[in-house]
Amino acid sequence: TPLTPTVLVIFGAAGDLAWRKLVPALYCLSAEGWLPEKFAVIGVDRKEMAKEEYLRHLRTGVESFCRRKLDDASWTSFTSSLVQYHCGDLSHPDTFGVLAKAIEELRQQWGGVANPVFYLATAPSLIEPIAQGLGKVGLGKRVPGSRIVVEKPFGRDLASAQTLNRSLGEVFEEKQIFRIDHYLGKETVQNILALRFGNAWFEPIWDRRYIDYVQITVAETIGVEQRGGYYERAGALRDMVQNHLFQLLCTVAMEPPVSFDAEEVRNKKTDVLHAIRPFPTEAVHRLAVRGQYGAGWVRGERVPAYRNEPNVSPDSRVETFVALKVFVDNWRWQDVPFYLRTGKRMAQRISQIVISLRPVPHQAFPEIAVDQWHPNRMILNIQPQESILLNFQAKRPGPTIRLSPVDLRFSYRDAFKSETPEAYETLLRDVILGDGTLFMRADQVEAAWSLVDPILQVWESNPPTDFPNYSAGSWGPEAAQVLIARDGRSWFESP
Ligand code: BG6
Repeated sequence: TPLTPTVLVIFGAAGDLAWRKLVPALYCLSAEGWLPEKFAVIGVDRKEMAKEEYLRHLRTGVESFCRRKLDDASWTSFTSSLVQYHCGDLSHPDTFGVLAKAIEELRQQWGGVANPVFYLATAPSLIEPIAQGLGKVGLGKRVPGSRIVVEKPFGRDLASAQTLNRSLGEVFEEKQIFRIDHYLGKETVQNILALRFGNAWFEPIWDRRYIDYVQITVAETIGVEQRGGYYERAGALRDMVQNHLFQLLCTVAMEPPVSFDAEEVRNKKTDVLHAIRPFPTEAVHRLAVRGQYGAGWVRGERVPAYRNEPNVSPDSRVETFVALKVFVDNWRWQDVPFYLRTGKRMAQRISQIVISLRPVPHQAFPEIAVDQWHPNRMILNIQPQESILLNFQAKRPGPTIRLSPVDLRFSYRDAFKSETPEAYETLLRDVILGDGTLFMRADQVEAAWSLVDPILQVWESNPPTDFPNYSAGSWGPEAAQVLIARDGRSWFESP
């Protein structure tokens, strides 16, 4: 069925997100025929630019960040009919009047249908004024096909997220609000659902009877780059754990959905958030570790400490690393620890989930016959490698019995030989289709904040005395090793 005619309005159209992510994703969708036949992009930004200048700027973004090589024919067809640029103050009433008119013109040109999608690629402080502005010119609830897309950070604690949800809710229905968590758009994250619920192999053992513990790591080698201003008010717990790591955890831990209906999938994930054992104030020091990077070497390059990055205070207390021990209190997961960690300037860029099984109930092989005794593991590599690995014991060739761990590996690239779309391509297409499955619902955002709020409070009232406590290029602070070593385990560090 043909897609409904759509006008995508990007607020903050001259900004970094539009340049690096949104427009390259739209270009790919357009070149590969995924956009509606009747489709237009209206860019709005306060920056004054002629349309030609704006297009030249976008073109450099596509050339640098798009997985597809730019070809002139596709670029011309993408830009000539599609893109308009309006210069205007993003929260001034006039801007919304101009927009309403432009959308109305397109609607008439297109025979009476034009779903407006408003993408807020702006500072979070502009979310409310833009939503209100749209509401005043009748572009909110009154237009059923209208949608608003908001980027993180969605609030900075439970109270601010609730306020934001309330104020968006005055203008749009919940099903018109698309809160981005770009991790959900990643192919490998969606594949966790395919793996679990499209196969008979795994789900029968996917619970506390067979799984001993789960580790989720999102390690980055980059530092805060030019985002010191934002990061100083955020830190890793807000920037990564409240959203991306918790969403990964929900994907691993959720109950099987009855269908892939957006509400059904999100209900099942929300159940996990509600089952996560709250962090009592007195236990935060045992269950949560924070770190901040000092200077060090990352892949042969000397890099500065966080406190010496641009726009960072020289005595900053902001964490660039977090490790948590989390329990999900329900029938499936009671007492199975989920160890989560994320950090900047770590030894390696890797996002991965490790599922570690309990040992066999009885060890019949003599100890001497086993080269390396470790439990069976399944490793879901999310990035940069996109693969799944099943690790098990096999008999070494030879006249005696000797067991050695081996791997069974599935690699996306080898299996499908096709290019993987970027998360933003998937997410933009879903917004156009009106499919909210891969977006955060209001209750999920709030449930996640209510879990991290107590940790934030304990950390804020007990400033760290040992920062920086890990060197750039390492695997984080010593305390993170201790957190897991206390349980007789260690972090899985892939080769
Ligand atoms: C963003 C965070 O949401 O995710 C960044 O704000 C982080 O700090 C980024 O670098 C990581 O995303 P990815 O897709 O590169 O793993």
